[in-house]
Amino acid sequence: MGRIIAVANQKGGVGKTTTAINLAASFAAAEVNTLLVDCDPQSNATSGLGLVRDPERISTYHLLMGAASPELGVQATELEQLWLVPAHKNLIGANLELVEAERREFRLRDALSGLRERYQFIVLDCPPALDLLTLNALVAADAVLIPMQAEYFALEGISELMDTVDRIRSSFNPELTIEGVVLTMLDERTNLAQQVMAELKRFFGEKLCETTIPRNIRLAEAPSHGRPALLYDPRSKGAESYIRLAKEIIAHHLPVEAGAQGQEMDKTA
Ligand SMILES: Nc1ncnc2c1ncn2[C@@H]1O[C@H](COP(=O)(O)OP(=O)(O)OP(=O)(O)O)[C@@H](O)[C@H]1O
Ligand SMILES: [Mg+2]
Repeated sequence: MGRIIAVANQKGGVGKTTTAINLAASFAAAEVNTLLVDCDPQSNATSGLGLVRDPERISTYHLLMGAASPELGVQATELEQLWLVPAHKNLIGANLELVEAERREFRLRDALSGLRERYQFIVLDCPPALDLLTLNALVAADAVLIPMQAEYFALEGISELMDTVDRIRSSFNPELTIEGVVLTMLDERTNLAQQVMAELKRFFGEKLCETTIPRNIRLAEAPSHGRPALLYDPRSKGAESYIRLAKEIIAHHLPVEAGAQGQEMDKTA
């Protein structure tokens, strides 16, 4: 059964979409079947994977409204083991249309329930708001991955996200956990970055991902070519850092393959 990871932070421009695209691509490149679901009306994950915006295409809007069978929303991508449910700006409408709807918080969870078997990871790219779209993503998810910039005010606003996670745990999704906090656009050499990293380590402890994502121009350029960084420039620091993040997350969740485990045991015997 696939693990569903929501990439969320209500703050804008912190690297959610860059993380969602490149983490999902790195899972796929590690030969793990992965589905990326674009839950943001800005549709940046959709265009970042090279799909032109098309209101006619079945998208996250249709999944939330129960207007199409979820399998029909899944598109192939350039990577063999990566699939995408695209978004379109019509998704803004879902936020309003769902207010009066039955099970309005469970729409995405219900839509993904039939797809989970086919993927080992499902990554959800959330909009920069704690709206009904993000709520649907957090109710559908097993865990939330929080991208953050190492800024002086980094922790401001995080308490609001943490309160939302607590609220969702106590009302809709008791199993929701924190996958991790990942530092993005990092310039490790600055004193400020070092101070903020130390503060985040104190606050989040184990939950702070060991992998950090450097500021890297290739990560910013890749979406305009409609490709994840590992296809646009596989040797770039940006591509490499997301491959490392994917490995860190895979190592936490997927059991060691039987063969490899056997070898380990042989060594210790
Ligand atoms: N590590 C990085 N190095 C350089 N540029 C980056 C990096 N990560 C993200 N960017 C750039 O920063 C901008 C914001 O990133 P991104 O779109 O991923 O953030 P977001 O949190 O999804 O934004 P929004 O809240 O609008 O959805 C983009 O132009 C992106 O290309
Ligand atoms: Mg985004």
